[in-house]
Amino acid sequence: MDSSDPAPSGKPDDHPTVPAQRANEDAYLRVSDLRVRFDTEDGVVRAVDGVSFAVERGRTLGIVGESGSGKSVTSLAILGLHDPKRTTITGEISVGGRQVVGLADEEVRRLRGRDMAMIFQDPLSALHPYYTVGRQIAEAYRVHHPKASRRAARQRAIDMLDRVGIPQPARRFDQYPHEFSGGMRQRAMIAMSLVNDPALLIADEPTTALDVTVQAQILDLLADLQAEFHSAIILITHDLGVVGQVADEVLVMYGGRAVERGSVEQVLRAPQHPYTWGLLSSVPSLHGDADADLLPIRGNPPSLINLPPGCAFHPRCRYADRTGGRSQSEVPALRPVDAADATDAAGLAEATGHLVACHLGAAERAALYAEDIASVGVAR
Ligand SMILES: Nc1ncnc2c1ncn2[C@@H]1O[C@H](COP(=O)(O)OP(=O)(O)O)[C@@H](O)[C@H]1O
Ligand SMILES: [Mg+2]
Repeated sequence: MDSSDPAPSGKPDDHPTVPAQRANEDAYLRVSDLRVRFDTEDGVVRAVDGVSFAVERGRTLGIVGESGSGKSVTSLAILGLHDPKRTTITGEISVGGRQVVGLADEEVRRLRGRDMAMIFQDPLSALHPYYTVGRQIAEAYRVHHPKASRRAARQRAIDMLDRVGIPQPARRFDQYPHEFSGGMRQRAMIAMSLVNDPALLIADEPTTALDVTVQAQILDLLADLQAEFHSAIILITHDLGVVGQVADEVLVMYGGRAVERGSVEQVLRAPQHPYTWGLLSSVPSLHGDADADLLPIRGNPPSLINLPPGCAFHPRCRYADRTGGRSQSEVPALRPVDAADATDAAGLAEATGHLVACHLGAAERAALYAEDIASVGVAR
């Protein structure tokens, strides 16, 4: 490890270990200390740098963060979609009890589509323009059900189109993607993702390109389908308002790292990280006064080739000068929000509860947050 590597467990030598409540061992998806690096001509991109979380069936984890924070790279790692020649992945990813990291290509392919599936932001990246929508969904079914007849696969595809709310599904089956509206294409892609009843569904900014009404319909649809299929869902978005509507837990990412994690209530009602405060104050739907100015976070997201030392957020943080230089020099570990300052602990990355990676003390954060929301008028 070079000096820019974070110490994922804080300083285990100096600090006592706090017994942490462990995430449910039964969680369908468990990600532990995931690191994803790309070798590029410009240098090593540390796209994901020690991220951990777990998702149970029937639950939804929202992953939020600005563009470039490592959200998509995390999901592609779970699905085994990175090019192994250019990518170094370490850590553990367990899907239904099977380790994905290091699994042979063919075995990951078997998991993908059947046990886990992804909905992309742009349906056209998943739907081929040359083939009818129905045929593509039927084929996705037959890949994992080789004994199914064409007729059975066709019927299954029509049922799925119907299930995701596409009118006249038998007629729509024979149409091409360009004959569908944006919202209908998104539904068709969801139908394709769900055709094999995957236990894990990753939706990467599924509604970003859609207007507000269609966005609400798609989110409702995902909630209905989850109730029906009891799937574990990861919903990736840069919009904390969307997270508030559908997620049970939230992971806030910055610069490839987790800066805050907890239940939706914890993170939206009592956000702990100054970065989360910034995200909240830039969400119109969470804003108390619709006429008040939204306050974007000053500065720009960091380069993942040259992450700022210490807390990667410090150059943009209004409060970094209150930590006696630690924010500039020491990567803050993720730990319980009310832990005393000196109790960084190994294993907390997998703990449940409300966690934050910030050098400010708990009391100071509470006081600063009160000031921060007063200055932007966010409703609580
Ligand atoms: N295949 C790749 N090769 C090199 N860099 C990549 C690759 N994929 C993503 N990145 C970089 O990794 C960082 C995180 O990307 P991503 O996970 O897509 O962000 P987001 O949070 O917006 O989904 C970005 O800086 C991106 O440029
Ligand atoms: Mg992305």
